[in-house]
Amino acid sequence: MHTPAVHRTIAEFRAACDAARADGARLGFVPTMGALHAGHLHLVRVARRHAERVAVSIFVNPTQFGPNEDFARYPRNLERDVELLASAGADLVLAPTPAEMYPPGEKTRVRVTQLTEHLCGPFRPGHFEGVATVVTKLFAIAGACTAVFGRKDYQQLKVIERLARDLLWPVQVVGEPTVRDADGLALSSRNAYLSPDERRRALAIPRALAAAHAAFSAGERNAGALIDPVRARLKEAGLRPDYAEIADPDELFPLEPGAQVEKRALIALAAFCGTTRLIDNLVLGEDAAPALAPLEAE
Ligand code: PAJ
Repeated sequence: MHTPAVHRTIAEFRAACDAARADGARLGFVPTMGALHAGHLHLVRVARRHAERVAVSIFVNPTQFGPNEDFARYPRNLERDVELLASAGADLVLAPTPAEMYPPGEKTRVRVTQLTEHLCGPFRPGHFEGVATVVTKLFAIAGACTAVFGRKDYQQLKVIERLARDLLWPVQVVGEPTVRDADGLALSSRNAYLSPDERRRALAIPRALAAAHAAFSAGERNAGALIDPVRARLKEAGLRPDYAEIADPDELFPLEPGAQVEKRALIALAAFCGTTRLIDNLVLGEDAAPALAPLEAE
């Protein structure tokens, strides 16, 4: 286990990425906002499989947070993150300041159309523009690499795949399945905000997804019949959904309630549990069912 080199400046990190490639190493890259958990570390290990050298960025990107969102209170602990990255086998870390990433007077934003108009898009105006902008900058800094992202943020993954392709980045984008806690809840840095009672109620999310998976496996193909019970379960648990949709898994537009699902369909949701906004998703016909701990007596 060796401690990764932590670079605070873009110039240093870029030079280290260039040096790795000059040595003949392939570069793996995992962009993050820190507050790392086992989901992030899984991405680092996957990047290792693709590449001899693995770089991780840790940057809480201000432009992807709305004015009433949690930018200020987002958990930050660089020292702990670097220790975790050492154990997962990362070699390089970029931990830049906002002024490095957004030079004074900057005026450029990257917008991916259509894919960002569905699901989280309308509820988080400017969010995907912030993500696309910062990821474009990160790709420009890291250069040719295999970049690994999580399917936990499925819409984000689709946006990034499209921007890498459309902007001709020499970047191979890899999407990895969601890592979950033993009880099925998707790991998220924001789970740290949940009270014990909220944490229990949040389990309605993986349970609803597992039920939709079971219905699909049993042959249900009606879009409304697949998504309505998901909405009902969230409400029963006292969660307040922004949305729970069944959608096209590639273009992300919602399916009409009477539509028949063909081979694959995305079930995606965002719901508030207390003041914490949680997201989760499952591609029916593609993803495994979320593994749930046995139900406690309720
Ligand atoms: P962050 O939320 O820190 O997530 C970093 C990466 O980890 C993303 O690709 C995300 O999908 C993945 N991830 C998060 N939870 C996961 C889980 N439970 N299982 C598997 N992967 C998981 O996503 C961002 O940061 C930012 O928007 C970023 C892309 C870094 C741009 O600022």
